[in-house]
Amino acid sequence: MKGYLSLFCFLFVICAWGHAGEVNTQPNANLSDRMLPSEMPALMALRPVYDAKIKPIFEKKCFDCHAPKRRTLPWYASLPIIKGMIQDDLHGATEHFDMTDGVPFGGQSSLKKDLKILDKVVSHNRMPPTLYKLMHPSHELTPEEMKTIIDWIALGQSHLQ
Ligand code: HEC
Repeated sequence: MKGYLSLFCFLFVICAWGHAGEVNTQPNANLSDRMLPSEMPALMALRPVYDAKIKPIFEKKCFDCHAPKRRTLPWYASLPIIKGMIQDDLHGATEHFDMTDGVPFGGQSSLKKDLKILDKVVSHNRMPPTLYKLMHPSHELTPEEMKTIIDWIALGQSHLQ
């Protein structure tokens, strides 16, 4: 019985969560702190396309978990148990891949590794996570969006050889 209750709470949170966000505007973090000089040409190529084509996709389909500071969490996110559940997931997502300040992404990896892992995750349709997709079918990446992201990754990789 307890199991069902937790499951219900979890589904409720996931379900209502994706409809909650408003985007805040915050200044970009200082770039030179996060980039190697050898990565600059790739970054210069990636940024304009990111702003024009990639960010709108990520904003709708990934920011809930990967850029939570740019979303306004719903009222129930401050309830004790639910707060813990959401914080755990958000922490995991931003720790691995933080989209808050755009490209370069935050986390422990280099730009090269980030592009590689993003390529893997997107081309295998691993994100957004399955349960989230079940609750938000419209947040699944479309084949066109996948192609746009994969082409953008290839553009960056061509400057990193
Ligand atoms: C419901 C929350 C949620 C959403 C929405 C979501 N992610 Fe994630 N993502 C996670 C979590 C949690 C992790 C860390 C654990 C894992 O790898 O499963 C993660 C990890 C990742 C990683 C790193 C994988 C690794 O192996 O290090 C990438 C890249 C990623 N997500 C991309 C995306 C993209 C692109 C989108 C949107 C199309 C997206 N995610 C949407 C929760 C989410």
